[in-house]
Amino acid sequence: MNFDHLHLLLNHVPIIGFFVGVGLFVASFTGSNEDLRRSSLIIFAVVSLLTIPTFVSGVGADRTIAGQAGISDALVRRHEGAAMLGLWFVMATGAAAVVVLWRSQRPGGASRGNLATVLALALVASILMGRTGNTGGDIRHPEPGAAAGAPITEGIVGSIVHPFEPAPDGFTNLMVANKWWWAFMMVLHFIGLSLIIGVVGVINLRIMGFARELPLAPLHRLLPLAMAGLGINIVTGMLAFIGMPTYYTADIAFWFKIAALMLLGLNAAVFYLTGIFHRVERLAPGEDATLSAKIVAASALALWFTVIIAGRYIQHFEDSLRF
Ligand code: HEM
Repeated sequence: MNFDHLHLLLNHVPIIGFFVGVGLFVASFTGSNEDLRRSSLIIFAVVSLLTIPTFVSGVGADRTIAGQAGISDALVRRHEGAAMLGLWFVMATGAAAVVVLWRSQRPGGASRGNLATVLALALVASILMGRTGNTGGDIRHPEPGAAAGAPITEGIVGSIVHPFEPAPDGFTNLMVANKWWWAFMMVLHFIGLSLIIGVVGVINLRIMGFARELPLAPLHRLLPLAMAGLGINIVTGMLAFIGMPTYYTADIAFWFKIAALMLLGLNAAVFYLTGIFHRVERLAPGEDATLSAKIVAASALALWFTVIIAGRYIQHFEDSLRF
């Protein structure tokens, strides 16, 4: 399997996922169906996570098919720009969905403003994913003449959103133009990492049975700090990837890191959605967690270490994958 195959396998997930998510989210308002709303929020969170490998595999697909007869570079760049714009709205929707899921478990629940924000972001993300899919399809099925260099014509949606789509090469060059900007991004990336591992590490160690004299609830209240760290790292990670897309895509350690992040999403879903969290939420001093909670906590720690170690090895595995 090459990157092109991987991209073709993944690329309908964000598009169909967002359309389904928006449909269920809107339907959940008829009769205030909380289960449906929760399901749609989970779909937004899961699909936004899966959009990351979809985007990265797209870069690999580009390098794999570059130069083939009938492939227009202008159409590929237009698709990449559409994906770059859409990616930010997809990630913002995923983050907002996680916040609403979190708030709905707390007293008072999520506000109307929270729900309206998710709806607005999800609608924009769906339109932009639809546009990304259309421009992707145009690469192999272009308008007559477009592959041979004729000017690209835009439809109604395209003519509205195209001015906001970044020129991929310009965006990439901007990220690496100044070494201090790159250093600043990396400093933020490490601050984010410390926030995550500091908070998640302590919570998971307590669940595993270390420092049993500590109650879990006050430790768990620190979680927003870890979520802030995750947000910082997703944004700085995406900017770094856009700065050197080919470098990262051709690196096996980077793919390990992405795979570990996907598994962490699964791990969080198992922890919060299967009742495990409710059983450990009020763990008193001296109390032991269930075995299932310990397994989930230990695997979360192992996966975070995989993310850190794979990240550290990225430089050593430059060019380890072929396009
Ligand atoms: C979230 C992001 C993305 C989505 C949802 C997406 C979606 C799609 C879709 C629907 C297709 C058409 C597949 C078909 O004809 O059946 C496609 C093709 C393609 N995409 Fe993407 N894409 C994304 C990101 C990217 C990026 C960042 C690039 C980098 C340039 C890229 C490069 C390509 C290439 C080269 C093809 C043609 C593959 C082929 O037909 O062999 N994609 N994409």
